[in-house]
Amino acid sequence: MMQLRNKGVKWSPISSLTPFLFLLITIVVAHAHMLEPEEKDDDSNEMRLELIHRHDPRIAGNQQHGTVSGFEQIKELARRDIIRHQRLLNGGYTERRKNWEIFQMPMHAGLDYDVGEYFVQVRIGTPAQKFWLIADTGSDLTWVNCRYCTGNCEPHSRKRRNRVSHRRVFLANRSLSFHPVTCSSRQCKVDLSELFSLTTCPNPSDPCRYDYRYMDGSAALGLFGSETITVSLTNGKKRKLKDMLIGCTKNATGGSSFNSKTDGVLGLSIAKESFLVKAAREYGGKFSYCLVDHLSHKNVSNYLSFGGYGNSKTTLLGDIRQTPLALAPPFFGVNVIGISIGGQLLKIPSEIWNIAGQGGLIMDSGTSLTLLAEPAYEPVIGVLLKALEKFDSLEKEISPFEHCYNASGFDEGSVPRLAFHFEGGARFEPPVKSYVLDAGPNAKCIGILPTAWPGSSTLGNILQQNHLWEFDLLKNIVGFAPSACT
Ligand SMILES: *[C@@H]1O[C@H](CO)[C@@H](O)[C@H](O)[C@H]1NC(C)=O
Ligand SMILES: *[C@@H]1O[C@H](CO)[C@@H](O)[C@H](O)[C@H]1NC(C)=O
Ligand SMILES: *[C@@H]1O[C@H](CO)[C@@H](O)[C@H](O)[C@H]1NC(C)=O
Ligand SMILES: *[C@@H]1O[C@H](CO)[C@@H](O)[C@H](O)[C@H]1NC(C)=O
Repeated sequence: MMQLRNKGVKWSPISSLTPFLFLLITIVVAHAHMLEPEEKDDDSNEMRLELIHRHDPRIAGNQQHGTVSGFEQIKELARRDIIRHQRLLNGGYTERRKNWEIFQMPMHAGLDYDVGEYFVQVRIGTPAQKFWLIADTGSDLTWVNCRYCTGNCEPHSRKRRNRVSHRRVFLANRSLSFHPVTCSSRQCKVDLSELFSLTTCPNPSDPCRYDYRYMDGSAALGLFGSETITVSLTNGKKRKLKDMLIGCTKNATGGSSFNSKTDGVLGLSIAKESFLVKAAREYGGKFSYCLVDHLSHKNVSNYLSFGGYGNSKTTLLGDIRQTPLALAPPFFGVNVIGISIGGQLLKIPSEIWNIAGQGGLIMDSGTSLTLLAEPAYEPVIGVLLKALEKFDSLEKEISPFEHCYNASGFDEGSVPRLAFHFEGGARFEPPVKSYVLDAGPNAKCIGILPTAWPGSSTLGNILQQNHLWEFDLLKNIVGFAPSACT
């Protein structure tokens, strides 16, 4: 999801893809969607975050003409903040305090939750309450469905309602470590203005409220607090991350991601108040994730790890390749040299990939499909269509896809391999199933869509699946290697 940017200073998490991810998911899900996301609480010693893929709305704009300009505007605003953010980043990260301090949070695909993003398990508060949050590299704010009573709590009526909706709710009022941010504080008035804090403040001690916006039109309303998040180190110990900014959301609306099975969002963008930046600061500037196949049942999980590459138990199916990160806060970008299909380098103007200009390729855990700016999309789709012309194409529209084929008789083996060539020569070659997707029992669809130029392109989470991705914010590099992530 991508948050929207508010008034030049605010980022809000708007996902423009959400609507179409949702479609994708709906189509694709066809199975397991009656399942309740209740997790079994067996290992209460671990603080791990699980990653599930969700359709982040931020990039969704590409499809809708209206949203594109909005997105571009956001990006432009983002660019102005680059210097500020870089200062923030460079100043913040230090080598790990202690060797081998790595924490991991369980992460799985969102199919069972009917969403196209990945979910991470997060333990919030004291005592800790467990939630599954959408892992979103496009959002600054971490929030959870929540109840906080300033006056009367009406515990009984509320509880009953929650049970009926099966919705998990963080009871902030019961957490010893939850402290609302006050509306009269500088934090509320200045720092959190980027996160859509509201200016209303009838009493100086009232909580600081937000109306957080995502690009897909969804929104979360609530109040900011500082809270403790408990994580499990790989050595079995627990650590408390104190004073993390948490949104206590009482109402999340719009978008397909915020359904009754979603507990909230884990903000993993590069922003001062994001969980990612705060956690990375204390854990050596390093984090990694390995995305399981997006069609996996939620009992198949891997981890979002901080402090190092804690995926030692994850078997890699190739060498780790590295490329410099091209940061465009709040987004993670990579520099592309070119795209090849079947070994043939395509003719794509280099400005398409210039993140300091009008283009760039953003890696987004919160967007499912991959979106290429038109001058890159055209050659890619041209070659793919030619290679696939021997298969029966489906007349019926399967939104949001543009090109679908009858799955019976479809031979994945004859689809030429697509490869992104990153700066420094690292070649990223996703499996065919990551760009010719199962879009239903009888349909295969090309999972790459066009987006307007000028504008950035997005490497979505489906294309990133079945790879370990390791980010090092100190060295400014990202490494990746193929893996089943199981
Ligand atoms: C939580 O709610 C109870 C009942 O209304 C109240 O007595 C208590 O002070 C509240 N605690 C906090 C931390 O707000
Ligand atoms: C939640 O937000 C929506 C849209 O802003 C609004 O229509 C609805 O009344 C709100 N619900 C509650 C319980 O505040
Ligand atoms: C995961 O769930 C699926 C469907 O319920 C089941 O077939 C599979 O055996 C489970 N896998 C594991 C590792 O529990
Ligand atoms: C797909 O191909 C099969 C076998 O040729 C055929 O029976 C089926 O009707 C086709 N489906 C569609 C939607 O065209």
